Amino acid sequence: MTDRPILNVWNAEHAYGTRKVLRGVDLQVRPGEIYALLGPNGAGKSTLIGAICGRFKLGAGEVALDGEDPFTTPNARARLGLVPQEIALYGHMTVRENLEVFGRLSGVRRRDLSSAVALALYLTRTADREHVPVRHLSGGYRRRVNIAAAILHGPRLLILDEPTVGVDVDAREALDTVIRNLRDTGVAVLIVTHDLEQAGALADRVGFLREGRKVLEGAPRALIEQAFGQEMEILVQMHIEPDMDGESILAGEGLERRKGNLWARLDQDGYNAAAQLDRRLRSLGLIPREIRVRAPSLQNLFSLVADWRRAA
Ligand SMILES: Nc1ncnc2c1ncn2[C@@H]1O[C@H](COP(=O)(O)OP(=O)(O)OP(=O)(O)O)[C@@H](O)[C@H]1O
Ligand SMILES: [Mg+2]
Repeated sequence: MTDRPILNVWNAEHAYGTRKVLRGVDLQVRPGEIYALLGPNGAGKSTLIGAICGRFKLGAGEVALDGEDPFTTPNARARLGLVPQEIALYGHMTVRENLEVFGRLSGVRRRDLSSAVALALYLTRTADREHVPVRHLSGGYRRRVNIAAAILHGPRLLILDEPTVGVDVDAREALDTVIRNLRDTGVAVLIVTHDLEQAGALADRVGFLREGRKVLEGAPRALIEQAFGQEMEILVQMHIEPDMDGESILAGEGLERRKGNLWARLDQDGYNAAAQLDRRLRSLGLIPREIRVRAPSLQNLFSLVADWRRAA
């Protein structure tokens, strides 16, 4: 990673009518860095991406892509590749044919096209499907071809909007590998995601946007350590769905429902507390199927940040 950011956003402000959506956002992303932009629905993430792509003029503040404003200098946009959330490929055409079309559209010269396509196929691990019509590809391959289409012109900043929507776990890992490979070639990667697990595993830095402001930023592990110190997360998977009494017992133990029949809480004294919890629950006739103790995740941090909003 070098120190000079390829993307600089200073004090970005934007309103739709009278509704302020960006309220002074700063953002820097450096070559060789993966930055994940997180935040609840309506936080302003897509609006910020729109500003970075030069789609509208900011109410205040500045965007610079390698020093140039993408709104006033459309050429600056050639330095970025945008992977849209919707798959934007031609289903009846093969992977290679799609990439040739997208290459021409993104201004790759005819004589450079074949090597650009070969490189994009290689970097996205899609070369083994180059002659397959896109409509026959799995969701994971389609996502990767979507990325291939966005990097043909050799952008220095790659922006991905919700890259894991509709992608299963195996395909997601393949996608993460592709994103890491691109980062390792020196591309700066900006991901907008609701997938906190992916962000925690992949991002060098994350930023939380909330109500148009960046409220937290840093390396995932460092942020988690700062927020939770020695606390561990205790996860309790119950055997059978608890009835109302069961639920109130679990709640009384400080456990909150995560998803399905999985309950969780944070505790300074992780393993001991988990053992005590197990004994107490069993004595009350609530039999856990599994109890796990693990370090807190970005998910915990995200809930904490969401709670600040409620407290404010
Ligand atoms: N074209 C528009 N006109 C008016 N309001 C808009 C427009 N686009 C977005 N908004 C509003 O601006 C706010 C921020 O929207 P934005 O799409 O940037 O949020 P987001 O963080 O990307 O959310 P999500 O996670 O749901 O994609 C929302 O309240 C949204 O309703
Ligand atoms: Mg959005």
